[in-house]
Amino acid sequence: MPDGMEQEPVEEGSDHREISVAEFFEKNKHLLGFENPQKSIITVVKEAVDNSLDACEEDSILPEVHVLVDEIGNDKCKIEIRDNAIGLDRETIPKVFGKLLYGSKFHKLQQSRGQQGIGISAAAMYAQLTTGEPVTVYSKQEGEPCHKFIVKIDTEKNEPEIIEDEIVDPESDQFPGDKDYYFDHGTSIELDIEAKYTRGHHSVRNYLKHTAIMNPYARVVLREPNGNKIEYPRVSKELPPKPKEIKPHPNGVELGVVLRMIDNTDSRTISSFLQNEFTRVGRTSAEEICEEADIDTGRRPNTLEKEEVEQLLNAAEKVKLQSPPTDCLSPAGEDLMLKGLKKELNPEYTTAVTRKPSVYSGNPYQVEVGLAWGGDIEDEGSYNELRYANKVPLLYKKSACVTTKAVEEVDWSRYNISQSGGRPKGPLYISIHIASVWVPFTSEGKEAVANYDPIRKEMKLALQEAGRKLGKYLKRKERKEIQEKKKRKLTSYAKEMGPAIAQLAEEGDPEEIENQIQQMVERDYNPEQL
Ligand SMILES: Nc1ncnc2c1ncn2[C@@H]1O[C@H](COP(=O)(O)OP(=O)(O)OP(=O)(O)O)[C@@H](O)[C@H]1O
Ligand SMILES: [Mg+2]
Repeated sequence: MPDGMEQEPVEEGSDHREISVAEFFEKNKHLLGFENPQKSIITVVKEAVDNSLDACEEDSILPEVHVLVDEIGNDKCKIEIRDNAIGLDRETIPKVFGKLLYGSKFHKLQQSRGQQGIGISAAAMYAQLTTGEPVTVYSKQEGEPCHKFIVKIDTEKNEPEIIEDEIVDPESDQFPGDKDYYFDHGTSIELDIEAKYTRGHHSVRNYLKHTAIMNPYARVVLREPNGNKIEYPRVSKELPPKPKEIKPHPNGVELGVVLRMIDNTDSRTISSFLQNEFTRVGRTSAEEICEEADIDTGRRPNTLEKEEVEQLLNAAEKVKLQSPPTDCLSPAGEDLMLKGLKKELNPEYTTAVTRKPSVYSGNPYQVEVGLAWGGDIEDEGSYNELRYANKVPLLYKKSACVTTKAVEEVDWSRYNISQSGGRPKGPLYISIHIASVWVPFTSEGKEAVANYDPIRKEMKLALQEAGRKLGKYLKRKERKEIQEKKKRKLTSYAKEMGPAIAQLAEEGDPEEIENQIQQMVERDYNPEQL
């Protein structure tokens, strides 16, 4: 402080007060995908459908998800989402829907659609904020009664406030609505929200269509506000491999995470802590890490200073550790990708490529690409991009996404596809999927995947491999068309050449000569033989 200036005494803490969950949500709801009524309805459906699909796959259930939308007034909709997943027990229901940051996936390192334990409670919070209405939940586990809950979030305490808690008969009228599938186990939720139901790229309909393409083993039904029903049928009875939970790799964890792990560990020594809590650390590598960090292997983990933990992490970078296992991932696979594209787009040609798993910064990931061309796909000038992270469609922030950058890096002209501004043109859908236990999104909204070099390169390689196959098909198609043209021309000449040759040679039957020419054309210019 410069001489002569005296600081005003400040009453400590006078401007400080706690911020309630409600206040935080009101100011930051855009971060969670609730910036306007058009986007919010997609976010609500997305959070519920993601959860339904996660819960089905967790228990190897072929998913059945129904999304029912009704307009209930000016810019307000009632949304119901029903699934046939395993259901929730009575104790868990109110917490899942009435408490932000409560979930089963946050503490697991496992590929799943959800992660943070905030998705569906944020949707409930949005409902409460915009219509004042609580969320209604019906949930039934196999052989158990069906529980009905009406829950609000106590926004001061971030705790559920139970308005109704009763057992209902799912077969009776107490469980309202559409009974076109048997509710033996599953969850159904109802939310009243401020919403704008629209069609087009950014719409519930498009979100579900994209979901159906990447999850063709799910049956999804949408009932629009006008009563129109759209079914996205199941075309495969096979679920992708179940993702496996893995432990973190020392090269892929942050300091704060390790400090928390140290607080929670039962391991008595640093060596056993490293071996028990991390993947790919055996006794020898644990000793090597400690030696490199100059820390005694036998010390208790909770005696480590923050700086020492940092030293251990730096040492782990230098010690040669095996990459994390990659069989924990659950890509859709080429077969399912093809099935999904075919059933929803009805193209003339499809191809798919699933790359081998790779690792970035200690995190396993896998990239896959599908291309669909022609048929019912209209040529809208530019190509259409379907972006997915852990089988969840990403509809926003396309230009910030690594997928788009990868598409732009490919020279599509090599594959007989014209380009404009570095992007492919034509009746083309490009679907790109990244499966990972930790998808590096650009922001908490989980809308675009960060442009990491290794990920972009993997995507580019997959696009090139698929592009080559499409290019071959298009080349062959072009040659066929040329051949077809020639054949048509020669066939029409044959009609005139028969009589002309017979007249010139003054012998022969014009019809026979014409037939012979036709046969020659059939033999030598058959496009099917190309
Ligand atoms: N339909 C459902 N069936 C079974 N369990 C569910 C269902 N919906 C939610 N859950 C459970 O409730 C938890 C909280 O869901 P929520 O969407 O809030 O968080 P999340 O899915 O874990 O992560 P994210 O915030 O990324 O969505 C989930 O982890 C899951 O265990
Ligand atoms: Mg979720």
